[in-house]
Amino acid sequence: MIAIPYLAALTTYFSYGLLFAFGQIRDFFRKFIDCCYTSNNQGYAPICLGLEDFYTRRLYHRIQDCFGRPIASAPDAWFDVVERYSNDNNKTLKRTANMSRCLNLGSYNYLGFAAADEYCTPRAIESLKGFSSSTCSSRVDGGTTVLHNELEEYVARFVGKPAAIVFGMGYVTNSAILPALIGKGALIISDSLNHNSIVNGARGSGATIRVFQHDTPSHLEEVLREQIAEGQPRTHRPWKKIMVIVEGIYSMEGEVCKLPEIIAICKKYKAYTYLDEAHSIGAVGKTGKGVCELLGVDTADVDIMMGTFTKSFGSCGGYIAGSKELIQYLKYTCPAHLYGTSVSPPAAQQIISSIKVILGEDGSNRGAQKLAQIRENSNFFRSELIKMGFEVLGDNDSPVMAIMLYNPAKMAAFSRECLKQNVAVVTVTFPATPLLLARARICVSASHTKEDLIKALEVIDQVGDLVGVKYFPAEPEKQQQEERMKLE
Ligand SMILES: *[C@@H]1O[C@H](CO)[C@@H](O)[C@H](O)[C@H]1NC(C)=O
Ligand SMILES: *[C@@H]1O[C@H](CO)[C@@H](O)[C@H](O)[C@H]1NC(C)=O
Repeated sequence: MIAIPYLAALTTYFSYGLLFAFGQIRDFFRKFIDCCYTSNNQGYAPICLGLEDFYTRRLYHRIQDCFGRPIASAPDAWFDVVERYSNDNNKTLKRTANMSRCLNLGSYNYLGFAAADEYCTPRAIESLKGFSSSTCSSRVDGGTTVLHNELEEYVARFVGKPAAIVFGMGYVTNSAILPALIGKGALIISDSLNHNSIVNGARGSGATIRVFQHDTPSHLEEVLREQIAEGQPRTHRPWKKIMVIVEGIYSMEGEVCKLPEIIAICKKYKAYTYLDEAHSIGAVGKTGKGVCELLGVDTADVDIMMGTFTKSFGSCGGYIAGSKELIQYLKYTCPAHLYGTSVSPPAAQQIISSIKVILGEDGSNRGAQKLAQIRENSNFFRSELIKMGFEVLGDNDSPVMAIMLYNPAKMAAFSRECLKQNVAVVTVTFPATPLLLARARICVSASHTKEDLIKALEVIDQVGDLVGVKYFPAEPEKQQQEERMKLE
């Protein structure tokens, strides 16, 4: 649970209240003016409805420049951010021909494979020549190359499951697989902070959905017991099947899932476990094999292992790994496999090559070095941020860390001031987080050098003071003691 500092909560409510009030007043006048014009759309219902439209027009547009910034290079440790300008208070933004070279703290480039790599890039280029950039068909009619088969074998071996199936898009992996696996009369128990792809997959499945408090095994058990006792709604028949869905590392918080406890509970109540490792596979664990390796969980205890290639592997797409029967079943039934275009061959080759590097099968120890580097970088960066007095979410070893900003104005100021000093950070707010919990989401990479991280920390330190987001300043006594010791 995030405990919002009292003052921050107050000012954040006030800010949103003010924005809302001004927005409503402006909308009121807009309606007045609109009456005088004849619209082309007479007789049609508005295509964008209600609050979402209001939010975009009156709140989001004011800080639009902080989002969707185009870049003009690979998302490496440093990248080129295209400068934009606006003539209408940032309502529309126009690109200039100018770039600024910025330190990249936003991309999910955990192992540094997002940039040209001495092993992966030449192989990806070769596959582009040999197989073209697209298969132009789905897996069942001409879209399965030898690369796709090889990829599925590598993925299964890497994550430690008998078989795997891959998809061209990470989001679709969750949103299309869940409806193929579970449906009416079944129960999904989902962590309250699960990603939108899981939420939409669960809703699309038609199963009953219950939510448990984020990463709280005791509450999961409570929900399970209650639901098993109750059974299906109205009929009270037993559930056809029960599936518990969690993530390995939560993308907006950087928290590592309490997997061993959750698995013990699932086993006790005979519920299937579905683990989304989008942010943990390749990034954590001694040999990069994700949270199971990090927490000492046997992969045989996780029924369905899902992950994406968009982060640690510098590619695109996603996978499901599980038993041979499960994967075979999905190959016959999952619409995303039957109708969706298969992974682009160079992207598939990139994944195979990066897995080889991670496993050391390229004949070097670069993979092991990258894994050691990401751990060292993440833990260094996190501990320094905490020392500076920021409220930082997430666990040690996680390359994702959230700096809580709360206030929408502070969020925009934080993002703009960092960018001014050539540090690009991603800030997130509603709808990706609850309205009051705006934050900067830092992603550390193995390709960041110590100097890069120190520069970033200096800028963030200074900007943190400027916009006033150091909600947990170090205790002055401790600081004084340290200083005294230094003097002595
Ligand atoms: C528009 O964005 C720029 C930064 O890109 C910022 O400095 C400026 O204050 C913004 N203007 C408004 C009216 O919000
Ligand atoms: C690009 O940068 C140069 C030098 O900083 C500046 O003079 C010029 O106005 C910029 N161009 C645009 C379109 O902003």
